[in-house]
Amino acid sequence: MSRIEAPQDAADAADGAPAVASALVERLLAGLPGEAVLTDPDVTASYANDMASFCPSGVPAVVVLPRTVEDVQHVMRTATELRVPVVPQGARTGLSGAANATDGCVVLSLTRMDRILEINPVDRVAVVEPGVVNATLSRAVNEHGLYYPPDPSSWEMCTIGGNIGTASGGLCCVKYGVTAEYVLGLDVVLADGRLMSTGRRTAKGVAGYDLTRLFVGSEGSLGIVVRAVLALRPKPPEQLVLAAEFASASAACDAVCRIMEGGHVPSLLELMDRTTVKAVNDLAHMGLPETTEALLLAAFDTTDPAADLGAVGALCEAAGATQVVPADDVAESELLLQARRLSLTALEAVKGTTMIDDVCVPRSRLGDMLEGIERVAAKYDLTIGVCAHAGDGNTHPTVCFDARDPDESRRARESFDEIMALGLELGGTITGEHGVGVLKKEWLAREIGPVGLEMQRAVKHVFDPLGILNPGKLF
Ligand code: LAC
Ligand code: ZN
Repeated sequence: MSRIEAPQDAADAADGAPAVASALVERLLAGLPGEAVLTDPDVTASYANDMASFCPSGVPAVVVLPRTVEDVQHVMRTATELRVPVVPQGARTGLSGAANATDGCVVLSLTRMDRILEINPVDRVAVVEPGVVNATLSRAVNEHGLYYPPDPSSWEMCTIGGNIGTASGGLCCVKYGVTAEYVLGLDVVLADGRLMSTGRRTAKGVAGYDLTRLFVGSEGSLGIVVRAVLALRPKPPEQLVLAAEFASASAACDAVCRIMEGGHVPSLLELMDRTTVKAVNDLAHMGLPETTEALLLAAFDTTDPAADLGAVGALCEAAGATQVVPADDVAESELLLQARRLSLTALEAVKGTTMIDDVCVPRSRLGDMLEGIERVAAKYDLTIGVCAHAGDGNTHPTVCFDARDPDESRRARESFDEIMALGLELGGTITGEHGVGVLKKEWLAREIGPVGLEMQRAVKHVFDPLGILNPGKLF
């Protein structure tokens, strides 16, 4: 993959020339406290990457940690004046390189803007700054009897701003939907420093284009989110989880189809294949069943979860489950979810490096997708562990390989691409919830086609005529 290229005007001004860099720092310091501006190269280098493998990154000129909207406005005015690229970042848990630095950029880390400004149980909204950690918000709204559903596996670390930037999903989406469905309104600092409000805090609202939705998943390429109005739900009862073992992935997928066709509404429906189960056991000694080819986790947060689990357990058996074990209580359920959330960390330990894919197919095609992934693994002679938000048809085929082995690395990249091609063939998308970043740039064009791409570029140009906002991402 080629190096990220900043648009010419931005790159020229930020070419690492010391005079330009010092002018930049000087201009930034004219409107920011000294402690908000980091220039030590060892420190700034630590902000170069998110958690994606195989994504190029550059060397930031400076890292800025704003605390206020005005701080962000000052950064953007300065960047516009000096034509310097700006890369916004949250906790850098992203998996597509969307938060990776470009050479000579200002890294704008929003992590210190971490106040929950309001939780309103009548309006059922929370108003937050972008640096609030997902789990912190979840716990805070819980205390008011409310629930903020989006729950990426990294929820203990990732920020709401990052969740909005990448349009993240999580485990609960099969029932509650993804981040986009909870973002009602935004305050955004534009490329030139102006402040724009989008959307609403009302239950309804259709005034004009839905710019709020446009910003969700825009990967920092259109503006800097500095405040968000988020929809909340009443807190549901604690969920209970059932684990069902299957002798084949296709039997597990058949169970998923039966559950969804049967009109059930699980609060979670996840799949871990044998490789993933073993990796989690090796890492965390969880005692998951290793003889099974596919482990399905289903959960209900209804008033009678045991009855719902009973019905779904029967459907799993009808699909050929070899074992169906409902958790005894909430604590045991939580352990099963922890095992699922550990999947990617555990798969990383298998061979040292992973490439995590994020292909989402119509759930009726999930079985074909998993079969295809097995064929790809055999063709390239690779270990590919799969965990999946099975109820959403959203798979994370994870190629495990040794990055020191050039041939294995090449095969890893090729298999990764072949899996995306398969997803598109099955009527799916190259990314269900991780985003395009730099990892899937070539693939965005293949998914949306030349006309779609042209219109996306045109939208980008309206918001960012100088090309300074997270250049080199998406397309
Ligand atoms: C998960 C992240 C990788 O599902 O999306 O664990
Ligand atoms: Zn996921």
